[in-house]
Amino acid sequence: MTTAVEDLMSSPPVTCGADASLTEVISLMDRRQIGAVVVTDERAILGILTERDLLRAAASQADPFTEPVRRWMTADPDVLSPADEVGRAWSGLTHHHYRHLPVVDQGQLVGVVSMRDLLAVAQIRPADEVGADVPRGLEGVIVAETSVGDVRGQEGFFHYRQYSATELAAHRSLEDVWKLLFDGALPDRAESERFAREVADLRDVPERLAGILPDLASSGAPLDVLRTAVSLLGAELGWRPTHDIDHEELRSQALRLCAVVPTILTATFRWQQGQQPVPPRPDLSYAANYLWMLLGQEAPAAHIRAIEQYLVLTIDHGFNASTFAARVIASTGADLAASIVGAIGALSGPLHGGAPSRALDMLDSIGTPDRAEAWIRQAVLRGDRIMGFGHRVYKTDDPRSVYLRQVARDLGGELVDFAEQVERTTVDVLADLKPGRQLYTNVEFFAGVVMHTCGIPREMFTPTFASSRTIGWSTHVMEQAADNRLIRPAARYVGPPPPQPVPAG
Ligand SMILES: CC(C)(COP(=O)(O)OP(=O)(O)OC[C@H]1O[C@@H](n2cnc3c(N)ncnc32)[C@H](O)[C@@H]1OP(=O)(O)O)[C@@H](O)C(=O)NCCC(=O)NCCS
Repeated sequence: MTTAVEDLMSSPPVTCGADASLTEVISLMDRRQIGAVVVTDERAILGILTERDLLRAAASQADPFTEPVRRWMTADPDVLSPADEVGRAWSGLTHHHYRHLPVVDQGQLVGVVSMRDLLAVAQIRPADEVGADVPRGLEGVIVAETSVGDVRGQEGFFHYRQYSATELAAHRSLEDVWKLLFDGALPDRAESERFAREVADLRDVPERLAGILPDLASSGAPLDVLRTAVSLLGAELGWRPTHDIDHEELRSQALRLCAVVPTILTATFRWQQGQQPVPPRPDLSYAANYLWMLLGQEAPAAHIRAIEQYLVLTIDHGFNASTFAARVIASTGADLAASIVGAIGALSGPLHGGAPSRALDMLDSIGTPDRAEAWIRQAVLRGDRIMGFGHRVYKTDDPRSVYLRQVARDLGGELVDFAEQVERTTVDVLADLKPGRQLYTNVEFFAGVVMHTCGIPREMFTPTFASSRTIGWSTHVMEQAADNRLIRPAARYVGPPPPQPVPAG
């Protein structure tokens, strides 16, 4: 069955004049619950104004009461015909990164078709039609619905549930945010204390795993050891496939997992340093206990709070590669440990979670501020990626980096000043050598500075990230399990045309 654009389009289309103010259009979009308005005069389509244009306007601090639509719309947009097959519409939208296109019949505007309309039919279309036009790296493709949180790349904003993540970092403990993710609401004071006590009591590594850990620790980097340890943890605790258990059982496994990961990581690091692990202390908060177990002494309050804020900021972040990996595995009904092992593997790559120590290595290698420009320029010209810069979703400042820059400033120290100078130079050099790519500092750059300043050794940067992200991954596994459908996309085959005769052996 072939679906045509007229079967999906919104009709009649909502229009406005080019001299309407942005405020008028915002209220129109709000009333009609739409994401785009076609801009017309009496005779013709002049343009299309979308939510994305409104975000651009807001980011430039344009006054919406006085700014005319004309200035922010996309003029002379491509159009579709109602009889067009959806494949053509899909191709236009994805190839040019449009979200909406007007539909015109014999010179008359008759409707608007959106990416959302097309995605609604994508699942019933043959894979070769859809797969052909999905952008490389699945950029911008919506693959699931979630109420865990989201990232708004154009605005530089991200949230957990309905709360700004940076505001949560400013005002709440890690345990409160953990509870928010797991149970959907922030705890009141009594619930907060109860939950903090409950998870603090789950920190001990189970006996058999604790016995194997010293051997395991000698076999690789802390994150690799964690990957194996989580696998063993699931086996030792008898975790069954998510397919076969209810939400309560999965939630209690997830609490145990998130509570024990810091203990596994810090014990691993200490075994590797030839030191005895430091047992967890249930009287300390997650962040305080993390530093206690890692460093073997109580950390100053400023360090504990800085690390807690870093941990809160890294709990979750939309459909990043490791979260997606966790959900794909969960969608098969596999057990919690299997999902988390896959996620840890995805996080370990330098394009995802492996960057903060490399960012600090870069600062070491640059050495002094006067060498920064030449160093960065040469690296970019060589084709290297500058670690801690660029992001798939953020096309403006990463709010985590903005927040952590301030945390780093509050902590103080020479490294912070130097990092800020290198940051400014790098952003300028990237704007010069990679114009239009919108490359800014991501979370990893100042994460490294903050962790270093708080005494966390470099080898533990990505593992520390993994520790808080385990909470986000687990939340996603629970969400996937609660309303599951196997995630099974398709690939476009580009090898030699089959079937070819099999050569005789
Ligand atoms: C995070 C990242 C993988 C996102 O990548 P992406 O969305 O796939 O972006 P692309 O790889 O398509 O890059 C787009 C362009 O920007 C350039 N670019 C992106 N990040 C860059 C960086 N950090 N340094 C130099 N150039 C960079 C690419 O070379 C490419 O240039 P081209 O158009 O000349 O080929 C990428 O920015 C990166 O590798 N950053 C460094 C690693 C890092 O900090 N990771 C932590 C992420 S939180």
